[in-house]
Amino acid sequence: MKKWISFVSVLCLLTGYCQADEGMWIPMLLKKYNIEDMQKKGFRLTAEDVYDINKASLKDAVVGLGREGSPFHHFCTGEFISAEGLLVTNHHCSFDMIQSHSSLEHNYLRDGFWARERSEELANPGITVSVLVRMEDVTEQIMSQLEEGLSMQERNRRIDSISGVLERRATEGSNLQANIRPYFNGNQFFMSVFRIFRDVRLAGAPASAIGKFGGDTDNWMWPRHTGDFSVLRVYADENNEPAGYSEKNRPYRPASFFKISAQGIKEGDFTMIFGYPGTTNEYLPSHAIRQLTEVENPHKIAIRTAKLNVMNEAMDRSELTRIKYAAKAAGVANAWKKWQGEIKGLKRFHTIGNKEKQEAEFAKWAEGHKRYEGITERYRDLYARRENLIRAYVYASEAGLRGAEIVGLAEKVRSRVSKSVEKKEQAACKEGLHQEIAAFFKNYDVETDRRILAEMLRLYNANLPAEWIPEEVGKARQTEDYGQYAAELFKKSSFATPQGAEVVWGDCDEKALRRIEKDPVTRLASSIREFMLHRILPELMEIERELKNENRIWLAGLMEMNPEKVYYADANSTLRVAYGKVGGYSPADGVNYTYYTTLTGIMEKDRPEIYDYNIPQALRDVYARKDFGPYTQNGEVPVCFVANNHTTGGNSGSPVLNADGHLIGINFDRAWEGVMSDMQYDPEICRNIAVDIRYVLFVIDKVAGAGHLLNEMEIIR
Ligand code: ARG
Ligand code: GLU
Repeated sequence: MKKWISFVSVLCLLTGYCQADEGMWIPMLLKKYNIEDMQKKGFRLTAEDVYDINKASLKDAVVGLGREGSPFHHFCTGEFISAEGLLVTNHHCSFDMIQSHSSLEHNYLRDGFWARERSEELANPGITVSVLVRMEDVTEQIMSQLEEGLSMQERNRRIDSISGVLERRATEGSNLQANIRPYFNGNQFFMSVFRIFRDVRLAGAPASAIGKFGGDTDNWMWPRHTGDFSVLRVYADENNEPAGYSEKNRPYRPASFFKISAQGIKEGDFTMIFGYPGTTNEYLPSHAIRQLTEVENPHKIAIRTAKLNVMNEAMDRSELTRIKYAAKAAGVANAWKKWQGEIKGLKRFHTIGNKEKQEAEFAKWAEGHKRYEGITERYRDLYARRENLIRAYVYASEAGLRGAEIVGLAEKVRSRVSKSVEKKEQAACKEGLHQEIAAFFKNYDVETDRRILAEMLRLYNANLPAEWIPEEVGKARQTEDYGQYAAELFKKSSFATPQGAEVVWGDCDEKALRRIEKDPVTRLASSIREFMLHRILPELMEIERELKNENRIWLAGLMEMNPEKVYYADANSTLRVAYGKVGGYSPADGVNYTYYTTLTGIMEKDRPEIYDYNIPQALRDVYARKDFGPYTQNGEVPVCFVANNHTTGGNSGSPVLNADGHLIGINFDRAWEGVMSDMQYDPEICRNIAVDIRYVLFVIDKVAGAGHLLNEMEIIR
């Protein structure tokens, strides 16, 4: 079995004849490249039904969630499910919004929240929802101004300035916003034009014990039982156009919204995902994969393991610490777990070996193609130069500036006060810092952070040669007792308590700045920052620029070498279509997973004493009454299902659609064994995980008692 899988992968890499299902496709190009294949696999709609700029199409129902200031950087996807602006996404995508509305009296995070009427929906300033109006291939306009042989800097400068002009021209006199992105490693450029809404309200969210059921224990895992959804509503002005929050705004009427299919799904069904995948790296050379799996990921994992050990122990000991650290630990654990899966997957599928074969083949072909000669050697040399730098970078960031929180705090306060001194904005500085410090200490435990600092200093010194260790970090080594050293720092630092911190920043003036700069934690932070700025970043960034240039040439060469293969562009936070089929998988020899889970499975996991598996009583009651309504398949309430759509981070909240383009689920995760799909996808083992839309309806209707929302939806039963 394993041998056969890797044979498929090799075949795919060498010849380009992949067993499709792989890929994240550009919606405006479906007609050209994918629609026939999609229809052959069962899709019953046309390319125009999915993407059309002259009439309503499915694309009008898919949105990117962003933030004011960076609206094109979509952190999640969402989709309209009613004519009145009702939108669904994941619980973990709205987590910050739910948390911001929560207090001890209204603990929406713990208990859930459901607006009984529209006036109760809660505004979320700063959150944006972008709806794609159209896309345009602007490769020609840009490329025609870039002759070969330009320096990299000049090339980038020109791309930026031409893009700026094109973006302005495309949106002049309208309230649209445009964004041009490189595709295919910078060999092509597409512009996306959006309508960006700024009045986004929370309409409902289940209790965390449903929306985050299984927590970090089950994160990235199948079988899964998480009801990872939340409900938002987008508001617009009286002309149905974007506007900032106003009581006068009305629910947005989208050009189209998804009908919901409650008819069920079965193994092998066609399925498609429409959303905003963030980043993938499918065309990296073998040297990159080696460095990632042997250097970068292992060190990042080691650092985070140390952090998590401290946090988990503290959370087990104190309920208060659990409240303070749950979200932080989840953030640390999410990528930590994914990196481990990634290493395993890349090894299991022999990605390095496969890529080496491909590179050898390429080198032979490139002998007659001067532009592409010697690229593998250049990659080898660049990655060799990069190794020490990337390791040092990982420590300076993960173990240093983002290690113990007190280090980050000192760094933030120092930079704020120094800016205030420079620009004479004391009042704003004082107010800003006051709030920041209050927020910081609300979720802070000194003892835990002190232990984290000790661990960070220990790892930093143990795992790097002296020349890569910033001076103040190195000092800890001499004492030979990191716990003692960290304790001393905390004792001498004013940043360890809110009172101390208030005294230190004082008036945001020069005197305060001098005091801050003398603080031992500031000295540690500054030492790491300076090392980063002067010893690591200049060369590392130069190498990254050169790599980017090689990546562009490399992919252009691959495409030229395999003219018959249809390539897809790496994810770049723009709208994409992935398609495949519903189905379980075999994660290991002798193990087979089915494609869906049920409410009975949730009940089997019920363990009130374990935080991640404590089910809300309301759900237990409904289960005991067997009050399942129409939301069943074979007498069970389905909860989650898996399919082999090619997805990545950012696809959270994406609509999972059936052959008719109806909503059957909301995407929220991938299965651990296949997370290497960001670098190498394999249809046998890569699975996206979705919450079944019938479970979403069941929770809204039967558990939350918010059935009125269902009246707005078009549900096909
Ligand atoms: N793994 C999913 C993602 O990458 C879900 C993360 C949120 N859930 C959690 N238990 N931390 O976003
Ligand atoms: N949970 C991820 C997200 O927030 C999706 C999982 C993945 O990486 O595929 O986007």
